[in-house]
Amino acid sequence: MPDRPRVVVTRRLPQAVEAALSERFDVSLNPADAPFSRTQLVEAFAEADALLTTVGDPVTAQTLGEAPRARMVANFAVGVNNIDLEACRARGMAVSNTPGVLTDATADIAMALILTIMRRCGEGERMVRADAWQGWAPTQLLGRDLRGRTLGIVGMGRIGQATARRAHHGFGMNIVYHNRSEVETDLPARALGLEALMETADVVSIHCPGGEANRGLISAGLIGRMKPEAYLVNTARGDVVDEPALIAALEAGRIAGAGLDVYAREPEVPEALRRLENVALLPHLGSATEETRNAMGFKCVENLEAFFAGRELPDRVV
Ligand code: GLV
Repeated sequence: MPDRPRVVVTRRLPQAVEAALSERFDVSLNPADAPFSRTQLVEAFAEADALLTTVGDPVTAQTLGEAPRARMVANFAVGVNNIDLEACRARGMAVSNTPGVLTDATADIAMALILTIMRRCGEGERMVRADAWQGWAPTQLLGRDLRGRTLGIVGMGRIGQATARRAHHGFGMNIVYHNRSEVETDLPARALGLEALMETADVVSIHCPGGEANRGLISAGLIGRMKPEAYLVNTARGDVVDEPALIAALEAGRIAGAGLDVYAREPEVPEALRRLENVALLPHLGSATEETRNAMGFKCVENLEAFFAGRELPDRVV
């Protein structure tokens, strides 16, 4: 059908999602899964009616061009920090994201990082793989109990609350949080200013959006307020944390460790972080389950369908 909207998909997606897209649109898929160069993005915006983008695709004034043919961007993520929303707005383009469906998967990864750093699982795994384990020992790789410790949630939205729920109900942690607006929660959780949270928490877990508004929010000054036995966990966006300041604090032993799923310049992970034993490093796995990636893909399909049918987008960002 020649009149079907042309949709360019920048990365390989779960099979069922690609099939659904192919049924509905004149779709260009990326079976080789090589990330688009800027030139490829510029070309796609110039020739497609919509793009399905991911967190690694910069949607900027430069990649959009002055007058793109594309009318819509369906971002395969809840975060939209890869997108210059103003530039889209100025060109009359719609933008959607995938909220809700990745809440549990991302909260699970935050918990996995908390457990990994507090119980020294990464160090233990590396010891076993290096064939360096000499057998059980009473003082080997002693970590810390989660029970009774305080988790400080920065950004008490869906994912922050889901993480807090796991930590409190599952692991007996106390919860404090910082959020820019008031939050209604059924958890026994105390709202704190950001400085007080950094001073109070045994684990600080970041769950606020990335992008301009929060760039460098967790600054050298705030990291300096953390307790020496505290850990920092980030499953949100790398740009929220001053990465060099975090590295400096870890190298100087001013905090106990960090668990990171996201980085300032992905996929670059600073060598200084990779050298540290008390840091758990994951390759942006927050939403990486089969169920969740399928659900994210189908959200993109729904939003694209709604857009081309002239209906309101279920997940409109712009
Ligand atoms: C992934 O990082 C997302 O924002 O969905």
